[in-house]
Amino acid sequence: MVYLSVVVAVALAATSVNGVPLTKRIAQVIADSTTKWEAACDKAGGGEKCNPVAVAAFGTLLAAPGPCEQQDAADNMIDLAKTLKNDPDMIKFAQLFAQQPRNSPNSQSVPYCQQAPKNSELNGLFQCQFQGDDPKTFVGGAKAGSTGTIPFGMSSPVSPAGSCKANTSGPIKDGSQLTDITSDPGVTSGTASASTSLPIILLNSGSGLTSAAAASGTASSGGFKLQNGKDAQKLNAKFSKLTTSSSCNEGDQACVNNGFAQCVGGKFQVTQCAASTTCAALPLVNSKGTSIACTTQSDAEARIKASGATGGLTGSGA
Ligand SMILES: *[C@@H]1O[C@H](CO)[C@@H](O)[C@H](O)[C@H]1NC(C)=O
Repeated sequence: MVYLSVVVAVALAATSVNGVPLTKRIAQVIADSTTKWEAACDKAGGGEKCNPVAVAAFGTLLAAPGPCEQQDAADNMIDLAKTLKNDPDMIKFAQLFAQQPRNSPNSQSVPYCQQAPKNSELNGLFQCQFQGDDPKTFVGGAKAGSTGTIPFGMSSPVSPAGSCKANTSGPIKDGSQLTDITSDPGVTSGTASASTSLPIILLNSGSGLTSAAAASGTASSGGFKLQNGKDAQKLNAKFSKLTTSSSCNEGDQACVNNGFAQCVGGKFQVTQCAASTTCAALPLVNSKGTSIACTTQSDAEARIKASGATGGLTGSGA
């Protein structure tokens, strides 16, 4: 059986009048930003601790979180690395994550954190910007040079604007991932080493709507397969009843109206899946749990069936 890469469709959304973009949102496939860190974490023996830290981290790249949440998430990634013999790959990819550009709701640059990180490995690091971000104006309207537009510890604006230690020559291509561009975070201890990436992007956190599937237990090899399938079916049944007016808890992830939904400020924000794909909860293959992804209906059904669970996507026989 072939496992397709699961991609959450996050595209560039533009509002326009007469075809002229006014305020273009600049986005990315946020889950890609932690794939390599999570693979390193798994390899280092982090087990079930890896995925929740990764999921919490990539959520900070959305437009809504505050300016220091990305750095806080990178600190959590380093904290976990320190419990795993200071795994160098985990530290390197956390340093790169701290520099990944964040989504911009309106093509303006994203403000910088104004606090020191907890771990010294992150000292002096700040996020790059995407090339489509206006280097002169920051989200919220601040002009470059004013409060929040200069990274912590620096006294003048980033030069060239939009650059970071991992790409010192300038901002990076819209939607691209630093971990695809470089394996050098640009700090003195950075070492380049090859790392394999996981084929499946995990999206579930262990809270709220997804807790049924993410509940922990000891996974004897093979024993979790059928349970994962049943958990995915339960989630799909639950998701089919959700609407954009359903209440939710911050950080919940779900499928709403066939789109990928994240709970921001008590409301689901839905990102439509790409044409001919649908949002579904899917059983993980190599470990206990489920993931939420945009994929084709037939792929979703095949994955559920492969787990041994019967009754289709929702288990109702449909
Ligand atoms: C790094 O920055 C330069 C200048 O903005 C840019 O031309 C280049 O494409 C960036 N690298 C990548 C791989 O995005």
